[in-house]
Order: sequence, then structure tokens, then C-alpha cells
Amino acid sequence: MIEKLIKEFKKIYNYEGKVEVFFSPGRVNLIGEHTDYNGGFVFPCALNFGTYGVAVKREDNRFRMYSMNFENVGIKEFTTDELVYKKEDDWVNYPKGVIKAFKDAGFNINKGFDLLICGTIPNGAGLSSSASLELLISVILKDFNNLDTDMVNMIKLSQKAENEFIGVNCGIMDQFAIGMGKENNAILLDCNSLEYKYAPISLNGASVVIANTNKKRGLADSKYNERRASCEAAVKTLNGNGINIKYLGELTVDEFNKVKHFITDPEQLKRATHAVTENARTQEAVKKLNAGDIEGFGKLMNQSHISLRDDYEVTGVELDSLVGAAWKAPGVIGSRMTGAGFGGCTVSIVKDEDINKFIEEVGKEYKEKTGLTADFYVAKIGDGSRKLGEF
Ligand code: GLA
Repeated sequence: MIEKLIKEFKKIYNYEGKVEVFFSPGRVNLIGEHTDYNGGFVFPCALNFGTYGVAVKREDNRFRMYSMNFENVGIKEFTTDELVYKKEDDWVNYPKGVIKAFKDAGFNINKGFDLLICGTIPNGAGLSSSASLELLISVILKDFNNLDTDMVNMIKLSQKAENEFIGVNCGIMDQFAIGMGKENNAILLDCNSLEYKYAPISLNGASVVIANTNKKRGLADSKYNERRASCEAAVKTLNGNGINIKYLGELTVDEFNKVKHFITDPEQLKRATHAVTENARTQEAVKKLNAGDIEGFGKLMNQSHISLRDDYEVTGVELDSLVGAAWKAPGVIGSRMTGAGFGGCTVSIVKDEDINKFIEEVGKEYKEKTGLTADFYVAKIGDGSRKLGEF
């Protein structure tokens, strides 16, 4: 794979000589959905597939970028003085946004680089191909400019690029999981304090299986921002009634039940109910996993899906069909949608001996219900964004 990419880089940029190769993973969230921007807990892990980057430093302030996933976009060029969003720049807006975030933070970025990328994450599948690209660029910027910064800061700058340059008001989960990923571990992250703990994923003869609905997310970005706005409105309502919180994630379920009558807008109430209960489920789920209670963890995954379906309303017929089929399939310990929703992927825990049957039966029922063909991946949990070396 890497050799092929290096060859392609040399051909495209008509270059001979040494190149640097970088990798940034995708992520899957096991539980804790739409809790990150509510100051709650998430429990994601980095995957062993992601975005590869082949890069060579330049002596001027120009960047040239090419993606093997978007060959039709061709090579895009810009300098450190041209870091503005342009629709026709397509995926290159993500790197531009990250470079701008670094510059705005005071880092001295005055030399550019030539870059070829190739992603093995299906785009728009909710496995964070965009955050993967953002962290890839961050790691290259740090390496090429010898920047005095750490991974958590790069994670924050990558999120800032997505919020301010791209205009998606995402939380910090994706960038954090991708930057801080650790082989065979998920990360329990408190999105308010950014305190985190690794939890080894040993599933006692079961595996994490990702299934892609192959329904593209479409209008998801605006719906995502709407959900976030509803939760913020609920916080405002509560604060207007004598409660003093910054995020819904500060409330336990009991505390919330005592004050929820203040939220009179039914939609806001449903959104807030999800945010609070999901946060509690996530903490409980990790306790169960750490105690070896995989079944208990799976049950909470199922409840998470129901809450995302009924209270947060971010599932849709494709995700519900895929999860519904999974709940009936042999060897399934738990199954839910993962990521922002509205399409994208589900995540299931399936007993190893039943995985083939699971893929066959779930794939068949999903096709019958939706006319779409799902793709399945048995996930391997890998390390975070990093340099692979000089070649
Ligand atoms: C997207 C966002 C994350 C998070 C999830 C939902 O992946 O980028 O910040 O909010 O949706 O849990």
C-alpha cells in the first residue's frame, strides 16, 4: 500500500527523492453519542484503517495537495496567504482550515509542502474521515515545522478548523479519538474536563463489527447543528429557572428528573432527555465492560440506539433497519448506530463464531427492507495519528 502511494506521489509531482509518510486513523464510537458537545462522556476508539499521507517539505510558502479518493478534483495549490474557504477546493478546505487554525494560534508556518493522500475510510460513513484528515495535517505541520505543541492542542486546533472554517459545530470526540487512539483500547473521555482513561477492549470471544448503511448523510450537517442548538436552548431554559449549569452533562438522571418540567418545549425536552440519559449510560457501560460484563455493556448499547431513535431522532429507516436486523441475528451482544447519525454506520458486538452468519442474515434483511447493500468490517482497534517514517 505505502509503496504504491509513494510511486503515485512521485509520478504526480514529478519528483525523485525521499518522502515522509504519515497515517491518521478513522474512529468508531462504542457508546456516548451526541454527548460530547453536551459536556458529557464518550467512549470511542481509533481504527486500524484511515488516511495515509505522503509529503515532502517545500522551501516556499506554497502547498500542493492531491487525493487519490477525489482524482477529479486534481491538484489544488494555495499559499500561506490564501487560507480562505472556497467551495471548488472541495476536500482541500479541511487542510486549509487546519493550517489557518495553527497560524491563528501563533505558530510560525511559513513553509508549505506537497501532499498526496489516500483514505481507506468510506467517506460520509460516519467514521470520521474528515477528523482523520485534520489530524493528519496537524501531525505533518508539527513534524515539518518542529512545532512545540502536544497532541491535545493539535486536537483542539483540528476541531476549531472544523467549527470555524468548515462550519460544522462538532464536539471534540472525533478529533480526540483519532489523535489519542491506542491499539486494543477505547478511550473514556470526559468532554468537559478532557480527562481521559484508556479501557482495554477484551470481549471474551466477541468482536466489534461495523456495518455501513451506505446511505450518505446528505443534509446531516444542518440537522447536526440543530440538535446542538436544541440542547443549548434547554440549558438556557433551565438556567432561567434557577439552575446553574454550563452543559446538560453536568446533571445526573435524578437531578434532571427533578427540573425537567421547566423545559416546556417538547422537542427540547426529548433532546435533553437523550443527552442526560446517554451520558449516564456511557459511564455505566464502561463500568460493566471493565468488570467483564460484556452482556451488560451490549444491553446499554441497545438502549443508546433506542434513545437516539426516539428522543434524539437522528436514526432514520436505514440505521433502524440495520440495527433491527442485528438485534435478531445470532451471536449479537449489542448493536447501535454510531457517529452523528442520519445514515452512516452501526456498531455491534458479535460473538466470533457467529460473525459470518451475522453478516449474511443482517445483510439480507437490510437489503430486503431498504434496497441498499450494507458493507461489514470486523474492526481492529489501532493507534492514533502518527508519522510512519521516511522512505
Ligand atoms: C459527529 C461529531 C462528534 C459527535 C458525534 C455524535 O461525529 O463530529 O463531535 O458529536 O457526531 O456523537
